[in-house]
Amino acid sequence: MDDNGIIEKIIALKEERDAIILAHNYQEGPVQDVADLIGDSLELSRAAASLEGGVIVFCGVDFMAETAAILSPHKKVILPARDAGCPMAEMVTAEEIRSARERFPDAAMVAYVNTTAEVKAESDICCTSANAVKIVSSLEEDQVLFVPDRNLARYVARFTKKQVIPWEGYCIVHDQITAEDVTLAKKGHPGAEVLVHPECRPEVIDAADFVYSTSGMIHHVCQGNKPDYIIGTEIGILYRMQKECPGKSYYPLSGRAVCSNMKKTSLSLVLRSLENLAPQVTVPEHVASRARNAIERMLAVT
Ligand code: 13P
Ligand code: SF4
Repeated sequence: MDDNGIIEKIIALKEERDAIILAHNYQEGPVQDVADLIGDSLELSRAAASLEGGVIVFCGVDFMAETAAILSPHKKVILPARDAGCPMAEMVTAEEIRSARERFPDAAMVAYVNTTAEVKAESDICCTSANAVKIVSSLEEDQVLFVPDRNLARYVARFTKKQVIPWEGYCIVHDQITAEDVTLAKKGHPGAEVLVHPECRPEVIDAADFVYSTSGMIHHVCQGNKPDYIIGTEIGILYRMQKECPGKSYYPLSGRAVCSNMKKTSLSLVLRSLENLAPQVTVPEHVASRARNAIERMLAVT
């Protein structure tokens, strides 16, 4: 079957199954095209908590589908590529959080949403790249243990007087972007604005013009009046920029910034997942109820 045939079937089955398709900004173009909503982690979490429909097909990675399952326990959450994980989310475990809490009894535990459900369950509050500064600033505690992304933790620390203690995790895609990449990209495209994700290293952030979540970047380039932009995040985002805000030029800061896990979802897998209503992502209620507290506390702040 060609892509058009698959797309027709997806649209018909989506209706039949009362399903909505959510896609992260890094998904492949054809997958974004069949989605009901494309967004960053915060927008997709909000959508999962509020949208109608009995089935959510989550085109992203497993922690995102888990978050949807936690927020919508009565919906069926399907992850078309069941093996799409986030290596950073594996860089901290629930057990490590419990022992860190013993070492830092006065610290608030902030979990980036790129964590497992078990880690969220051990945390006080979650955050995403779009609201991390606001979340940390909202806390009563002066000391904050921030897991697992050391780069996002250090970025947040720039905007608060609190003592932010970073975990030693990182995103394998963003952490490999270097300050030299910024120098070279600026030389190649003089006058272009440089936008980077806060998962980038501090020296990359220092060399950039703006720091945003993925949807924050899309908003910036669509509102902006510059003709050229250098984009420091996973390259899948360029598809949405070109589609929604054409007539401007978008250049990847690094051609190596490809998240292989985000690329595992294909139109064929989306179709198969709608046909079978599988693979389903579930979170045991004793974990989900505690993780839900941390996520809902975040949603209440923002
Ligand atoms: P956003 O929430 O900014 O979309 O980031 C998610 C992510 O996984 C970045 O690598
Ligand atoms: Fe995880 Fe990085 Fe991929 Fe985002 S880009 S899903 S943080 S590995």
